[in-house]
Amino acid sequence: MNIVVTGGAGFIGSNFVYYLLKHRPADRVICYDALTYAGNLHTLEAARKNENFTFVRGDIADREAVASLFRQEKPEVVVNFAAESHVDRSIETPDIFLKTNVLGTQVLMDACRQFGIRRYHQVSTDEVYGDLPLDRPDLFFTETTNLHTSSPYSASKAGADLLTLAYHRTYGLPVTVSRCSNNYGPYHFPEKLIPLMIINALQDKKLPVYGAGENVRDWLYVEDHCAAIDLILQKGKVGEIYNIGGHNERRNIDVVKIILKELGKPESLIEHVTDRKGHDRRYAIDPTKIHRELGWLPQTKFDVGIKATIEWYLTHRQWWETIISGEYRNYYARMYDER
Ligand code: NAD
Ligand code: TYD
Repeated sequence: MNIVVTGGAGFIGSNFVYYLLKHRPADRVICYDALTYAGNLHTLEAARKNENFTFVRGDIADREAVASLFRQEKPEVVVNFAAESHVDRSIETPDIFLKTNVLGTQVLMDACRQFGIRRYHQVSTDEVYGDLPLDRPDLFFTETTNLHTSSPYSASKAGADLLTLAYHRTYGLPVTVSRCSNNYGPYHFPEKLIPLMIINALQDKKLPVYGAGENVRDWLYVEDHCAAIDLILQKGKVGEIYNIGGHNERRNIDVVKIILKELGKPESLIEHVTDRKGHDRRYAIDPTKIHRELGWLPQTKFDVGIKATIEWYLTHRQWWETIISGEYRNYYARMYDER
């Protein structure tokens, strides 16, 4: 089978590429990625040595390029990870989020209709549900929870998610949608909470916690997300939405303290900074459906996953040092200097 993985040079997409090469050795994996600031060919160095792997550089919103990808590679399955993915950047510049996340999804699905496909899978996010109050630990997002977005990022992801379901209903496109909670693990871009805190702590730099740090995220080890998507491709029902999460809720401040403890660094490095605009309070997934219907359960507990992640950043210094010494420096200055 030929599987196109868009956004495969980013965090979760690259982990999914490696997951497929390991667990589906009979399949051909084609990574289609525009290599934006978040895409990184170094991440795919090992994959590129595998003869079942092909890399094609291109934008999902570029109709011509996408058509030529389909003509050339004849995919039977497309898994769409390609997106602008960072909430803080979406607050700065929403335009590119609409272009890539919404229009890019449309262009990809139009090609799927034109060339024919066995499955189009849209990688969505729990952020489409908005947030939950901090004082109601009994509430969780299910697949039928209303969409209620907060940031330009989540609004663009919700737009793409709804468009995917519309293409199923209107044109009969064989789609599935997954809405996963926050991921962590190897190849996570340094702008996001967990890698940012690990990397800053390693450099004895301040750890910028937004507001009081009481916002809650539901963390899932990236390999568990990859396994869930693979299972949806194998056994999921067309037209269905699957929530993915492992009931692992943590306050940001507690995650930061765990990282400091693991690295033997003092809590005095923590600096509370101005809160994010429209900051979602709590995300919490109810994964009952994917567990009951497909038998999925997460395999990696947070205390194991976070140690493995910290170890990965310790042993892959060159990977992140290259990133933080480039354009990322300007982003960091814009976002955090005088915050
Ligand atoms: P990422 O920012 O690390 O990677 C995104 C990748 O997409 C990069 O390789 C980038 O070059 C590529 N890309 C961006 N615009 C493109 C375009 N126009 N055409 C082709 N490629 C393009 O993101 P991530 O954290 O790996 O997230 C992947 C997907 O998973 C996204 O759709 C995101 O919304 C979703 N998701 C992420 C999380 C999370 O915790 N990170 C949780 C749930 C869902
Ligand atoms: P992030 O990794 O950006 O993911 P998301 O906003 O999509 O959940 O942020 C996770 C949480 O960490 C979120 O509540 C914002 C917070 N945060 C900080 O406190 N400081 C930071 O420097 C960053 C990047 C995030």
